[in-house]
Amino acid sequence: MKNNKNKTRISIEGFQTEQEKFWAGKFGDEYITRNQEKTYLANNIVLLGKIIARTNRVDSVIEFGANIGINLLAIKQLIPEVELSAIEINEKAIDELNKLEQIKVYHQSALEFIPDYRRDFVLSKGFLIHVNPDKLSKAYDLLYKTSCRYICLAEYYSPTPVEVNYRGYQDKLFKRDFAGEMLERFNNLQLVDYGFIYHRDNQFPQDDINWFLLEKTDRT
Ligand SMILES: C[S@@+](CC[C@H](N)C(=O)[O-])C[C@H]1O[C@@H](n2cnc3c(N)ncnc32)[C@H](O)[C@@H]1O
Repeated sequence: MKNNKNKTRISIEGFQTEQEKFWAGKFGDEYITRNQEKTYLANNIVLLGKIIARTNRVDSVIEFGANIGINLLAIKQLIPEVELSAIEINEKAIDELNKLEQIKVYHQSALEFIPDYRRDFVLSKGFLIHVNPDKLSKAYDLLYKTSCRYICLAEYYSPTPVEVNYRGYQDKLFKRDFAGEMLERFNNLQLVDYGFIYHRDNQFPQDDINWFLLEKTDRT
């Protein structure tokens, strides 16, 4: 697999939404230091192992909003030969991603991503919840276009859209039925499985995440 360590300087002012500027800036930098605990890798191996067990075959994976690549590293443990790609807006996270072996790195807003080729498994974990709701249809289209088979959403669920305070910030965290909206939007998507991981799980907690595995029925 080819290593792609591209590093482009991007200006925060160039982003269209407050939410993108927020993650590209100081808050995003600080998030990285808060999220380096070793237990995160084990917890994600357990979560993603459960999800990937519901698939048939996954040879390539791309994550939207990959941060420092913990989910991708977890997937690499589960599928050693997998081809991995990461899209990430924060430069400090990109520095960490670039240190990892064999990950194709895209330093840009995922909302500006131009799908170059399709991957078997497209992951959004804690990404859609931070997208400006006006840009969600664009995000859904990009997740869909980038996948040739599976789309996995691991986000915070709410049956009706709500905005919640995020570490003291307004308009930075949104909960809704992301998977349901994608199923409504694309006729050939079907629900394969879904689940919830409680923050008080005795062994492998997650931050009260609801995950949904969707599959294209005709691979278009
Ligand atoms: C809550 S973190 C989740 C990180 C990782 N997916 C995980 O599960 O640990 C959100 C990540 O998405 C990135 N992000 C937010 N908006 C983005 C955008 N428009 N394009 C690319 N990355 C974005 C942030 O910089 C951050 O790394």
